[in-house]
Amino acid sequence: MTTPAANELKPILVFDSGIGGLTVLREARLLMPERGFIYVADDAGFPYGGWEEGPLKARIIELFRRLLDRYDPEAVIVACNTAFTLAGAELREAFPAMRFIGTVPAIKPAAERTRSGLVSVLATPGTVRRAYTRDLIQSFASQCHVRLVGSENLARMAEAYIRGETLDDAAVLAEIAPCFVEKDETRTDIIVLACTHYPFLANVFRRLAPWPVDWLDPAEAIARQARRLVPLVEGAEHPDGFDFAVFTSGRQDFSTRRLMQGMGLTVSEGPVGSPG
Ligand code: DGL
Repeated sequence: MTTPAANELKPILVFDSGIGGLTVLREARLLMPERGFIYVADDAGFPYGGWEEGPLKARIIELFRRLLDRYDPEAVIVACNTAFTLAGAELREAFPAMRFIGTVPAIKPAAERTRSGLVSVLATPGTVRRAYTRDLIQSFASQCHVRLVGSENLARMAEAYIRGETLDDAAVLAEIAPCFVEKDETRTDIIVLACTHYPFLANVFRRLAPWPVDWLDPAEAIARQARRLVPLVEGAEHPDGFDFAVFTSGRQDFSTRRLMQGMGLTVSEGPVGSPG
């Protein structure tokens, strides 16, 4: 039997506005050990949460035109709720030959699991505004009371935290407090982490929460979906030292490089660039 040479396998591209998509990359690597990974952060556009929809959509499509052309991946994991709820359909339409695995707020599993019927969705202001998010609630959680909480600051805080900065507990609590709802002697029991940056803060959230809840992180489910769409190639092995990260700003500070190294990613100096 011939063994497929590792470098014959195309890589998987994982995309986010910043370093939040690393929470998904972590899981995808466990389930897809034979694949090389390219992690792309559009840090020149970060944070996506506050962008107007039209310009952000145009930026994402233009960026993917360059990325797909340059890296020719097997599939793309859009590890960003803010990007995928806005531009997922257009990406699939613009690049019909590419397989896109999306990230959307885990409202359906939350509605299936809640016992109290009170569910909160913690996301960027962009994701909270999306018609896509409202449609998910309408389709899968109409029997629940869903509180949408758009946080202006948490994605930035998560980036700071993961780079080793200390966060102010009161500032974090102010962001998550609106998720905790009490109604007719029942309480919120599930909070959907609908931004891939937030699982980095899950331990802080647990410590500061007014009462214990389930914090729903969809990373593993996204990785499972990617594995389903890209079946294992028997006998293939991960290409040694392949995995790398690309930043659209082209500028990474020491702590970002260290973080990437810790994740086993080399930082590429590749000229993908920001769409402006
Ligand atoms: N990580 C992104 C998400 O999942 C968004 C962070 C941002 O750029 O505001 O929504």
